[in-house]
Amino acid sequence: MSILLTGGAGYIGSHTAVAMTEAGYDIIIADSLQNSHPAVIDRIGEITGRKPLFYKADAGDAEALRRVFEENEIEGAVHFAGLKAVGESLRRPLKYYRGNLNPALTLLEIMREYDVKKLVFSSSATVYGEENPYPYTETMKTGSCASPYGWTKFMIEQIFSDAAKADDSLSVVLLRYFNVIGAHPGGLIGEDPQEITYNLMPLISRAAAGRTGKLTVFGGDYDTPDGTCRRDYLHVMDLAEGHVKALRYADGRSGAEAFNLGTGEPYSVLEIIAAFEKAAGVRVPYEIGPRRDGDLPEFWADPSKAERILKWKASRSLGEMCRDSWNWQRKNPDGYRGGEEDPE
Ligand code: NAD
Ligand code: WQD
Repeated sequence: MSILLTGGAGYIGSHTAVAMTEAGYDIIIADSLQNSHPAVIDRIGEITGRKPLFYKADAGDAEALRRVFEENEIEGAVHFAGLKAVGESLRRPLKYYRGNLNPALTLLEIMREYDVKKLVFSSSATVYGEENPYPYTETMKTGSCASPYGWTKFMIEQIFSDAAKADDSLSVVLLRYFNVIGAHPGGLIGEDPQEITYNLMPLISRAAAGRTGKLTVFGGDYDTPDGTCRRDYLHVMDLAEGHVKALRYADGRSGAEAFNLGTGEPYSVLEIIAAFEKAAGVRVPYEIGPRRDGDLPEFWADPSKAERILKWKASRSLGEMCRDSWNWQRKNPDGYRGGEEDPE
């Protein structure tokens, strides 16, 4: 029996594939490769000693997905596949509604055809919207999202929850990730955005490597301890291990349950830059610029539900997150496309 990871060649999916393989699961990855590189499949095999079975498939394509279920014994799915650029979703909302809702609906339909009853979903802290006080807890009302991207996460949570209400043998776990950074410590897999990125950690790494100009810190006049925004940054390997716990939890249950996956501790942009400089031993050139539209001053998770019920708690420090992000960057300056090795 295998677990299907849609979007499993991506940043979080590839790290989860490693954690799940190490926990003893057989993994199958279905990914369109629209934001990832095929080399990641070999790298997962190199780390774990067990290369996952791979299908190049769009999760919104029922025929392609049906083939995966037809040719394998699948016991559950983790649904990562989707588009994630918040800013782009504001400019191209239909691309995001189509690109995120189609795969979610198609996966659910094919799972029903093949009587597969366990589903873990990559949701996001963004479902808490712009009106909740922090730290965010799972009992808060979701919605009032700031972007079409956020609304797709809200809608998919609703769709999966309704499906679980209507089928009392279906078990769904909604994982609300906070700000994911870091990489596998071996430096073989990491975050490799195929298009331009606006996320903080890849931009810090690139600025430190001298591949871009100065990093712009978006706003230095927020009502926060040092004037810059604060977020709940989480190591991708901690997050990956959270999926293993979520799948175990989903076993034999019914209904849909949401969990925050975060550390519960906020750090400011300037604190991240300082931690990165210390862990990597390099300078990060930066300047304080204007605020970015749509940024909340601060938010972080109350992760106690995951600790209580899933027995999951983030254990890796901010220093480890920065060290591992830098290790990935310097060993793979051009991501999966380059064969260049670190000259050191
Ligand atoms: P990613 O872009 O690296 O991974 C997504 C993967 O899905 C890519 O490999 C891409 O090629 C694939 N994909 C996209 N559309 C597809 C489709 N229709 N069919 C098959 N494959 C498809 O992103 P990530 O950071 O690994 O994020 C994974 C999931 O977690 C996404 O759903 C994202 O919205 C969610 N999430 C990410 C973060 C974060 O900080 N990175 C935070 C919260 C939630
Ligand atoms: C982090 C902090 C910026 C770039 C988004 C989504 C969220 C989740 C993670 C998916 C902010 C500051 C950034 C830069 C900066 N993804 N920053 N200069 O916006 O917190 O969250 O990604 O679900 O849903 O909304 O992440 O990495 O873009 O920014 O100062 O060049 O870094 O202002 O405070 P964000 P981010």
